[in-house]
Amino acid sequence: MTRDSARAGRYHIETWGCQMNVLDSDKLAGTLESHGYRRAASASEADVILLNTCSIREKAAEKIFSELGRLKPLKKRTPELLLGVCGCVAQQEGERIFARAPHVDFVLGPRAGATLDEVLTRHRAGDRTVRGTLDVEYRSDSIDFPFEKIRRAAAGTGRAFVTIIEGCNHRCTYCVVPRTRGKEICREMGQIMEEVRSLAERGVLEVEFLGQTVNAYRDSNGRTLGDLLAETARLDGIERIRFTTSHPAQMTDALMDAMAAARPKVCPYLHLPVQSGSSAVLRAMRRGYDREAYLAKIEGLRRRIPGISFGTDIIVGFPGETEREFGETLSLLQEVEFDTVYSFAYSARPGTAAHGMDDPPLELKLERVNRLQALQNGIQARRNQGWVGRAVEVLVEGPSKKRPSRWSGRSADYRIVNFSGRATPGRISAVRITGASAFSLRGESVLS
Ligand code: 5AD
Ligand code: SF4
Repeated sequence: MTRDSARAGRYHIETWGCQMNVLDSDKLAGTLESHGYRRAASASEADVILLNTCSIREKAAEKIFSELGRLKPLKKRTPELLLGVCGCVAQQEGERIFARAPHVDFVLGPRAGATLDEVLTRHRAGDRTVRGTLDVEYRSDSIDFPFEKIRRAAAGTGRAFVTIIEGCNHRCTYCVVPRTRGKEICREMGQIMEEVRSLAERGVLEVEFLGQTVNAYRDSNGRTLGDLLAETARLDGIERIRFTTSHPAQMTDALMDAMAAARPKVCPYLHLPVQSGSSAVLRAMRRGYDREAYLAKIEGLRRRIPGISFGTDIIVGFPGETEREFGETLSLLQEVEFDTVYSFAYSARPGTAAHGMDDPPLELKLERVNRLQALQNGIQARRNQGWVGRAVEVLVEGPSKKRPSRWSGRSADYRIVNFSGRATPGRISAVRITGASAFSLRGESVLS
C-alpha cells in the first residue's frame, strides 16, 4: 500500500450562492474523490480547502475575503494545506485574490473547474508551482463534466440537481453573471437523459434542471426544455420535475404548453424573477419585458396549470428608482400574490452597465426592502393559512434543522412543510396540514 492510499487526504468545501454553485461543489468534490481524497469533518482537519464563491452582490463577495482571513492562521500552521478559491469571485477578481490574500494557493473560475484535476495531479507529484495557479478561461466543455463523478452532498434526500445550460446571453444592467459564467452553452439532451435515468435508478424521485436562463435551453438538434420535460415525465421512478431559473422573456407559450402536458410530474411551482413592477425600471435594467408582458406570462401559466405557485426575485433601489416606481413593485406583489419572494437591495457591481450610475443611499434601499417584505409576509401568511386542514404530499428531505424530532420537506408546489409522525428521508409522505406561518406549513403525517 502506498503512503497516499494509507492515509487518504481530506477535503473541505464551503459553498456560497445559488443552486448552480451547490452542484458545482458536488463536481469539485467528485474530482477530489477521484484523486483519493475524502470529505473532512471540518476545515481544520482538511488537506485541501476550497471556497466556492458567489459575487452577485458586494456583500457575498466580501464574505469570501473575511473567510479567507479566518483561514489564514490555519494555513500558517499547516503550510502544506492547499487553499483554493473557485466560482464567481474567482472569475471576477482573478489575480487580485492573490494580492489581497497571499496565502491562497490557486484560483479557478466556474468554467475552469476541470483544472482542479490537473492541480491535484501536479500537487501529488510534488510540483510546488501549483501555488499561484490562476485559471479563469471560459471552457465550453465545462458543461460535459462526467455525471458519474459527481459526489452529491444531498444524496439520500430524494432530490438531485442536473445542469442543462450554463452561462447567460442577457445583459441585465446590474448583473455580473454574464461576466462570471460566460456565454450560454447547452448540454446535449441525450447526455442529460442518461444522467436522469441513472438518478432514477438510484432512487431519486425529484430532478431539478438548472441553468442561469434554464428556459433558453436548446441543444444542437434543436431540442428544447419542453422536449426535456416531456421525455423526463415518461421515466418511471421520477415523480417530480422542476427547473430553475427561468427568464420571463423566454417563457414561451410552447414551454407553458409543455409544462401543462407533462403534469402532474412537472411541479406546480415556477420561479420567475420579475426584478421590478415598474416598466420604466425594467427598461433601465434591460430585462426585455415590461410589467404587462410579465403579468401576461403569469396569467398564461395560471390558465394552463390552475393553482400553480410562483416565486420571484426583486431588486429594490435600482439607480433612479422613484417612490412611485417602487410603489408599482408593491402593487405587482399584491396583484400576483407570489408564494415566495427573494428581495435584494441593489448592489453596484464592477463591470456592469449600471455601475457608476447614481446608487440610492443604503438607508433608502433598506427601508424599501423592509416595506416590501412586510407586505409580502402578510400575503404569504394568508396564502399559507389556506392550506390548513388540507393534505399534501411531501418529499421528505430529513429531520428539521430547528426541531430534529420533526421532519422537513417540500410540497409539490415548493412549500416547506415541517411535520411529526413516521417518515423516511428521500420518500414522499402524505401530511395533513395543521398550522401555517408566512414561511412554512406544519402538519402530521397521515399513515396509510
Ligand atoms: N444587486 C442586487 N441584487 C442582484 N441580483 C442580481 N444582481 C444583483 C445586484 N447587482 C439578484 C437578482 C437575481 C438574483 C439571483 O440576485 O434579483 O435574480
Ligand atoms: Fe443576470 Fe439577467 Fe442573466 Fe439573470 S438573465 S443571470 S439577471 S444577466
